[in-house]
Amino acid sequence: MIKVKRIGAALGAEIRGLDLSADPVSKDDATALIEALHDHQVVVIRGSILTPDDLIRCGELLGELKVHPVFPHLEGYPPIVVIEYHGKQYAVNEHWHSDVMFSPTPPAYTLLHALEVPAVGGDTQLSNQYLAYDGLSDALKSIIAELNGINTGAGAARLAGKNAADAPEAFHPVVRTHPDTGRKSLFACRAFTTQLDGCSEEDSRSILETLFAESCRYEYTWRHQWQNNDLVIWDNRCVLHYAIHDHGDKTRLLHRCTVASNAHAEQDWTC
Ligand code: SIN
Repeated sequence: MIKVKRIGAALGAEIRGLDLSADPVSKDDATALIEALHDHQVVVIRGSILTPDDLIRCGELLGELKVHPVFPHLEGYPPIVVIEYHGKQYAVNEHWHSDVMFSPTPPAYTLLHALEVPAVGGDTQLSNQYLAYDGLSDALKSIIAELNGINTGAGAARLAGKNAADAPEAFHPVVRTHPDTGRKSLFACRAFTTQLDGCSEEDSRSILETLFAESCRYEYTWRHQWQNNDLVIWDNRCVLHYAIHDHGDKTRLLHRCTVASNAHAEQDWTC
């Protein structure tokens, strides 16, 4: 029997009693997992010892897996990206972002599985973008209601040693309506959103700086302290995250995969 316990004030729940080694995972358990994600935006399942095949199977409970358009994958496992610490200057995820937002069809969910993490440090911070949107003034909500952000993967491409000029770029509404919950969330981040389409450079910068600051106010965030074998899953449509690289040169090794939006969600992309 699955138990879901809220562990963060703004977002986040721990799930117990979910047997991810069952093959297949029961339909009821899979439904409970999706409901927990809708209710809490991010879930933690401790003590999940998952091979790459297991991780892929877990991801497929939520939908079709995506292959990252820029980063290399784990050999033999195209949907899995290895998150490994190569020095702070190569930190690809030490900034607020929603995964692969520069893709025309960014993923619905991310699954992140800890293989070896430092005893302290290397936390992941997550921020609830429903709350961020709800907290905006009515005036700002009406200014951004119809705006699209231009999101670029140039920085990610550079870090991956690729040509930034060939990086993907995508336009997305800065206010999203979640296809399953019907709630509105902010969808802009400092890492990828470079401009607002149709706005002057000055207006764009000023609005985006406000949105970036609002999107990660402390009261909207919660911080996951990793243990080996944790599986954390979040909903990229309403959550931003930030990997904190404060663990010196200690090993931090995780496997990540992302799940495509469902067909219904794709209808959101009316830019
Ligand atoms: C990510 O940005 O998807 C990974 C976050 C992390 O390494 O904590």
